[in-house]
Amino acid sequence: MTANWTPSSWRDLPILQVPSYPDSQVLSDVEAQLRTSPPLVFAGEARSLKKALAGVAEGDAFLLQGGDCAESFAEFHPDNIRDTFKVLLQMAVALTFGASCPVVKVGRMAGQFAKPRSSDVEAQGDMELPSYRGDIINGIDFDEISRIPDPKRILSAYHQAASTLNLLRAFAQGGFADLHRVSSWNNDFVADSAQGHRYSEMAERIQEALGFMEACGLTPESVPQMRETEFYTSHEALLLPYEEAMTRVDSTTGDWYDTSAHMLWIGDRTRQPDHAHVEFLRGVKNPIGIKCGPSLDPDELIHLLDILNPTDEAGRITLIARFGAEKVEEGLPPLIRAVEREGRRVVWSCDPMHGNTIKASTGFKTRPVDRILAEVRGFFAVHRAEGTHAGGVHFEMTGRDVTECIGGAQAISDDDLSSRYHTHCDPRLNASQALELAFLIAEQLREERGETIRAAAAQ
Ligand code: PEP
Ligand code: CO
Repeated sequence: MTANWTPSSWRDLPILQVPSYPDSQVLSDVEAQLRTSPPLVFAGEARSLKKALAGVAEGDAFLLQGGDCAESFAEFHPDNIRDTFKVLLQMAVALTFGASCPVVKVGRMAGQFAKPRSSDVEAQGDMELPSYRGDIINGIDFDEISRIPDPKRILSAYHQAASTLNLLRAFAQGGFADLHRVSSWNNDFVADSAQGHRYSEMAERIQEALGFMEACGLTPESVPQMRETEFYTSHEALLLPYEEAMTRVDSTTGDWYDTSAHMLWIGDRTRQPDHAHVEFLRGVKNPIGIKCGPSLDPDELIHLLDILNPTDEAGRITLIARFGAEKVEEGLPPLIRAVEREGRRVVWSCDPMHGNTIKASTGFKTRPVDRILAEVRGFFAVHRAEGTHAGGVHFEMTGRDVTECIGGAQAISDDDLSSRYHTHCDPRLNASQALELAFLIAEQLREERGETIRAAAAQ
């Protein structure tokens, strides 16, 4: 048991980015209701993910973590969940087949509702209102009533997360993820693009390989990995009253687990070592992500690892670097060197989204695909130079045909942004841009693994 920790010990510490609810009684009622509601995930599943991440840290697998910036009540629809899941499967297959590398799949799904904001207020014209903080807290419409934090939204978010997870479990284990269906995961609007063609060619080769394996007696009946997949969920552990209410003792081990998701991460704005968010996460046994941006000092990172993973447990910590294409090659090496110097076991993942957000000439918040890809290349180059393992990527995407990020093979322009801009927070890669990213990662990974194999052969 972690010393001096309880699920509510965060309440005694300073906290950033959490709303003040006008009616604390309604909040308490909601928390009480959640405390007796079923867990969304099981401790054993979180342990399986931790074990898989320990493999990633060793360089034996790659972490693919993606989904919405902010899930919303408005975009909640089975087709959206299916299409995002399909694209994640496509990306995973591109990496498994293209780089012969097992992939650990984690969605920013089934709970990714609360958003940290750079400013507490948003101005439009002469009017100023509290910022939108995600559907689990307040409404996105720019009017006074919508922006008041409403505790009942927490229950709606919980129920949406539960039914999203239910569908994801069915997709992952009920036949949809069977490798024989690899061709059917191409969404119609992608099939005709350059990425779509590239994917179809790869799918044909996979079908051929499956035919060969079956002739050798390896069938979906004898090899379950051919017909189903492991799929995990994650979100930023930001709204601590929700996370606390979902935290339960695991009867097998007696440890505390936050059962709102398999993996939780701490955002770049709430990772102060002596504040509430770090306090809460140090006591739950789930795998934890830490966002690492340009403002993170290497010594502070080590301090955070001391607090969050004092026993250096394998698979516990994923460091999610989000520097921006221009800063990654300078900013990342000092963090890697500090971790190596201290001999800590971590997964290094790259979030190429949050350091590359710009304002388009048309006023939309956007991200250039070229910069996203450049940050991923920079991330791999740094790891090659440092002799460490580029372990994963963390990205914001949707399976829908949106126009939120500019450029890429589809060449979406500033003027195109308004045509299908649906995000509730940050701009996401669409299905075709996400595939483009996956093919780039496969190339980088092939290079890295080629080097590793050569190095091992030379020993
Ligand atoms: C996010 O991942 O949605 C996010 C807000 O990231 P960061 O904390 O890295 O800015
Ligand atoms: Co975001």
